[in-house]
Amino acid sequence: MKRHLISAADLTRDDAVLILDTAEEMARVADRPIKKLPTLRGRTVCNLFFEDSTRTRISFEAAEKRLSADVINFAAKGSSVSKGESLKDTAQTLEAMGVDAVVIRHGASGAPYRLANSGWIDAPVINAGDGTHQHPTQALLDAFTMRRRLIGPDAGIGQDLAGRRITIVGDVLHSRVARSNVDLLHTLGAEVTLVAPPTLVPVGVETWPCEVSYDLDSVLPKSDAVMMLRVQRERMNAAFFPTEREYSRRYGLDGDRMARMPGHALVMHPGPMVRGMEITAEVADSGRCTAVEQVANGVSIRMAVLYLLLGGNEPAVTNPRTEEK
Ligand code: NCD
Repeated sequence: MKRHLISAADLTRDDAVLILDTAEEMARVADRPIKKLPTLRGRTVCNLFFEDSTRTRISFEAAEKRLSADVINFAAKGSSVSKGESLKDTAQTLEAMGVDAVVIRHGASGAPYRLANSGWIDAPVINAGDGTHQHPTQALLDAFTMRRRLIGPDAGIGQDLAGRRITIVGDVLHSRVARSNVDLLHTLGAEVTLVAPPTLVPVGVETWPCEVSYDLDSVLPKSDAVMMLRVQRERMNAAFFPTEREYSRRYGLDGDRMARMPGHALVMHPGPMVRGMEITAEVADSGRCTAVEQVANGVSIRMAVLYLLLGGNEPAVTNPRTEEK
C-alpha cells in the first residue's frame, strides 16, 4: 500500500480487499463493551478540516480515539487560516508539533496531494474529501457496506465485488464520492452505471471505467445497489436543471421507483440527504436504505486505514485476554 491515501485509484485490488478485511476485524471491536484498542497509543493524528463536514469528521475522530491515538482537531473557521495563513504554513506548524498522520478535507481539488508531496510534512496524509476530486474512505466504506450486505460479513472476507452492478445517480459532476466510487468499484470488479441529467455528467466521462445512462427507470431493475447523490448547490455556479421538481421527477428515488429494484438491492446515500429532492423520506427511512449503516461502517474503515498507514506491525485486534497481560 502507498504511504498516503489521496485517491481511490491509488489502491490495488489487494490493497482494497486488505482494508475491507481489516475493517471487518475493527467492526468486531464496536460490539465489545469497551470499544478501544491500544494500537495507536502515543501517536498523534491531526484532523485538518477546511470545509464543512459532519459524518466524515466525527467518524475519523471516533476511529482515532478507538485506536487510542491523541487527536488534534483543526477547523479552518476560527483558526489563523481566516487571517490569511497558507496551507504551507499550517502544515509546517503541524510538522513542528510532531504529528504522526494528517487527515485533510479541503475545498480545493488537489490540496491533499500537495500536502503529501510538498515535503512540508513528513507524516502520512489521508484525503477526507478534496473539492470535486476524491473521497477515498467514503468509497471504501461504501464498498464495505455493499460487501457486507450482498455477500455477508464472514463470507465476504477476501472477496471483492466482481460482477455486482452498481448504479450511481445524481450530481456526478460535482461529486468526489462518485469519482472515488467509480475508481474503487472498478478495481473491485463491479460494473458501474452513472445516471444523471446530461448537464451534470462530467466532460471526459467516456474515459472513466463505467457506463452512462440518462434513464433511471431502465437501469433500476438491473442494479444490486443504487447510490443516490446530493445535488451540490454550494459548488454550482449556474443553473444545471430547470426546477427541483423536475429534477426529482426524473432523477429522484421514491417508493414507486424503489419497487422496480430487485428484492435484494440496496439504496445507499453518503449523506447529507436532502429529503424530497434526490430521495423521498419513504425511501430514506425504509429498511433497504443503508445510509445509517454506512456511517457506522465508516468508523471501522477509517480505523483500518489509520492502522494500516501508521504501520501496524502488531496484530490490529488482539483478544481481550492478551491485552490484559
Ligand atoms: C459527501 C462529501 O462531503 O463529499 N458527504 C460525505 O462525506 N459523507 C457528499 C455530499 O456532501 O453530498
